[in-house]
Amino acid sequence: RPFPDVTIVEVGPRDGLQNEKRIVPTEEKLALIELLKGARLPRLEITAFVSPKWVPQMADHEEILRRTPAADGLIRSVLVPNERGALAAIAIGVEELAIFTSASETFAEKNINCSIAESLERFEPVAALAREHGIRLRGYVSCTVECPYEGPIRPQAATGVANALADLGCVEISLADTIGRATPESVDAMLSAVKASLTAEKLACHFHDTFGHALDNVDVALGHGIRVFDSAISGLGGCPYAPGAAGNLSTLPLVKHLEEKGFSTGIDIERLLQAEEFAAGLRQGNTEIQAGDGRRVS
Ligand code: HMG
Ligand code: MG
Repeated sequence: RPFPDVTIVEVGPRDGLQNEKRIVPTEEKLALIELLKGARLPRLEITAFVSPKWVPQMADHEEILRRTPAADGLIRSVLVPNERGALAAIAIGVEELAIFTSASETFAEKNINCSIAESLERFEPVAALAREHGIRLRGYVSCTVECPYEGPIRPQAATGVANALADLGCVEISLADTIGRATPESVDAMLSAVKASLTAEKLACHFHDTFGHALDNVDVALGHGIRVFDSAISGLGGCPYAPGAAGNLSTLPLVKHLEEKGFSTGIDIERLLQAEEFAAGLRQGNTEIQAGDGRRVS
């Protein structure tokens, strides 16, 4: 099958590493990205052009993007909170910008220091830049089901924000369960509501796996026709502004789960295993990177 049935968006280098206590050295991040490319992951969210005061782990975003060259069939994506981030990423060269807001007002305030409406206004120049430069625009809605501050979120709230992101020009809206509290029932209710106005082809799901529900939630989303899932190698991840957001859905179990169900992903499992081992070591801070000449660099 030349085209995969399901597309995986690997967010480990961004969503994963933004939450590591240790600031992972740039060289280690780049080595991880190389391994992920080698596993033929078609879409990599490699860093975030956010404020280093807010997320120090992503302070090396320019270097990460500069040293991750474009490659055939690869979409390099970066998270951007505002026009400044978009301009900096475009100056280096990127295939996708990902803007991010929330279905919960409190989470938006904590994460990006503005209301949902203000965030959408902030994204207008980002969307204009994406259009002008022919760059894909992706949008995230955090807390589509549960918020760490507000508790359960009404499906209509997620729907309103997803529609607003689509109106801005996002070709894909990733619906996030930021703290992994969603259940098959709550995901089903949220997706039913969002799909009243957006087709499944425009949607992705971004599950965190704090309570071990992520794969069950994937099954519900597959039933809704969703074919794009975000995951992080070795289940790295969380969000520094979402207390309790443990790891993202882990890429390797997701790929195995999908292939067992008969969905192709186009991913090289053997190479993915190597990336998995490297990422697990990186979390514990005991990776050994071989430089091109075989010298140990960290
Ligand atoms: P602010 O403090 O309201 O705005 O931050 P500001 O304009 O006063 O900027 C503060 C400082 O950041 C200034 O520096 C700016 O220059 C600088 P100073 O003048 O004080 O030295 N700054 C920037 N630096 C680099 N790149 C930029 C940039 N913009 C401003 N683009 C802001 C507002 C949005 C910037 C801030 O709140 C921020 O960066 N937040 C990002 C938070 C974040 O990255 N959270 C994690 C990612 S979201 C997530 O994990 C959820 C997701 O995975 C889905 C899910 O699971 O739910 C996507
Ligand atoms: Mg996330």
